[in-house]
Amino acid sequence: MSRPKSPSAARRARPDELPPPGSEAYAHSLRLLEKLHTQISANGGAIPFEQYMQAVLYQPDLGYYRCGSQKFGIGGDFITAPELSPLFARCLAAFVAQSGAGDTVLEVGAGSGKLAACILQQLEKQQALPARYAILELSGELRQRQRETIERACPQLLERVQWLDDLPENFAGVVIANELLDAMPVRRFRIRGQQLFEQYVAWCDGLLCFRDQPLGDVRLIDRIASLREQTTLVDAENYLSEVNFMAEDWLRTLGKKLQRGVVLLIDYGYPRSAYYHVQRNSGTLMCHYQHRAHPDPLILPGLQDITAHIDFTAMADAALAGGMDIAGFATQGNFLLNLGLLDIAEHEQLDERERLAVSTEIKQLTLDTEMGEQFKVMACSKDLDVRVRGFEHNDLRHLL
Ligand SMILES: C[S@@+](CC[C@H](N)C(=O)[O-])C[C@H]1O[C@@H](n2cnc3c(N)ncnc32)[C@H](O)[C@@H]1O
Repeated sequence: MSRPKSPSAARRARPDELPPPGSEAYAHSLRLLEKLHTQISANGGAIPFEQYMQAVLYQPDLGYYRCGSQKFGIGGDFITAPELSPLFARCLAAFVAQSGAGDTVLEVGAGSGKLAACILQQLEKQQALPARYAILELSGELRQRQRETIERACPQLLERVQWLDDLPENFAGVVIANELLDAMPVRRFRIRGQQLFEQYVAWCDGLLCFRDQPLGDVRLIDRIASLREQTTLVDAENYLSEVNFMAEDWLRTLGKKLQRGVVLLIDYGYPRSAYYHVQRNSGTLMCHYQHRAHPDPLILPGLQDITAHIDFTAMADAALAGGMDIAGFATQGNFLLNLGLLDIAEHEQLDERERLAVSTEIKQLTLDTEMGEQFKVMACSKDLDVRVRGFEHNDLRHLL
C-alpha cells in the first residue's frame, strides 16, 4: 500500500531490500554518477554533502526533480498531502479566500500541479478567484506536468496561471510552500567530542563514500555554537545532524520581496529543542524510493528523493530577518481542523463507499500517527490587517 510521505508512515527498508531499478533508470543513474565523478575530481577529491544533494536532486536533465520519473503518487516514490486527498487543497482554498492578502497566490515547488488545480477549482466555486496564480518551479519537466494537470482539471482557469523563473519583486499575496523546504539541500555536520567536522562526499574504490573534513566555515561553526547553547547538544559526544541554510536564505529573501501578505510553510520538522536533541544523534536525513524510506543518500543517485526535516526555529529567525512576523505555528492536524476540515468534508454529497474513503483521508491528514503531528504549518505575515486563520486552537509559537 502506498503511504503518505510521513517519515513515520513510510515503510522503512534496508537499502538491500529496495527493488532494483530497471535498465533505463540504471543507465540514467550511471550518467549522473559520471557527472558527479567529474565534479568531485575537479573539487580536489570531495564535495560538501550540500553540493552532492544539489546535484542528485537538481542537476539539469539528470537530477531527481529534473528528469521524467513519476515521483508523486501511487506509481511514484512518495505521496504528499495534496496527492492524498483533495480535502487538503479545499482547506488551503478556505485559507486563501479569507486571508485578505491581495490578489496573487504564489505556489513554490508545485509538484504534479494537483494542489494548484484543486485550489483554483475551489476558489472558482466560491467566486474568490485570485487575479493570478503564480507557480515558481525549478524543473521544466514538472512545469509541463503542472500545466497538463491544470489544463485537464480546469482549462478555463489556465490563463490565470503563470510560471515564474524567480521570486517576484514587491508583491502582495499568499505564498504556499508544501514540502518545499525539506527538498532543499542541507549541510551535514558532525560533533566528535570538542572537534567539529563537515560531511563531504568522495570516491572510495570506485564507489561514492562519506568523508568528514575538519569544519572551517564560520557560518556553520557559529550555528553549532548557538545550538550547543540552546539545546541538549551541549552533551553530544558523537553526533551527526544537518542545517538547512538554503531554506533559511530563501525565506529571508522572500520576506524582503513580499510587500504585504502571508507565507504558509507546510513541512515535517520540529522546533529547535526537539530537532537538535542529543538523542537524535544521526540527524533527520531520509530517502524515498518506491514508497520505501531508508537513510542512505549515496545509493540510487538521481532515482530517489532525499529530504531532511525542518528546524522551524531557524525558519522563524529567517522570517523575522526578512521583515515578517510569525503569525502562527501548529501541527498540520490542528491547522486543518481549525480551518474547518470536518465541515468541508461534510459538505460533500457522498455515497457510503466514498464516505469511508473520505474518513480514511481525514485520518491520514490529521492523526498523530500519520501526517497530523510530524507535519507542521508555520505562517509568516507582513503588514496584514486580518488575523491569519488556522491557528485559533493549539498555536505552538511558544515552542519556537
Ligand atoms: C517534495 S516536492 C513537493 C511538491 C508539491 N508541493 C507537493 O506537495 O506535492 C518538492 C518540490 O519543490 C521544487 N523545488 C525545490 N526547490 C525549489 C526552489 N528553490 N524553488 C522552486 N521550487 C523548488 C521541486 O522541484 C518539487 O516540485
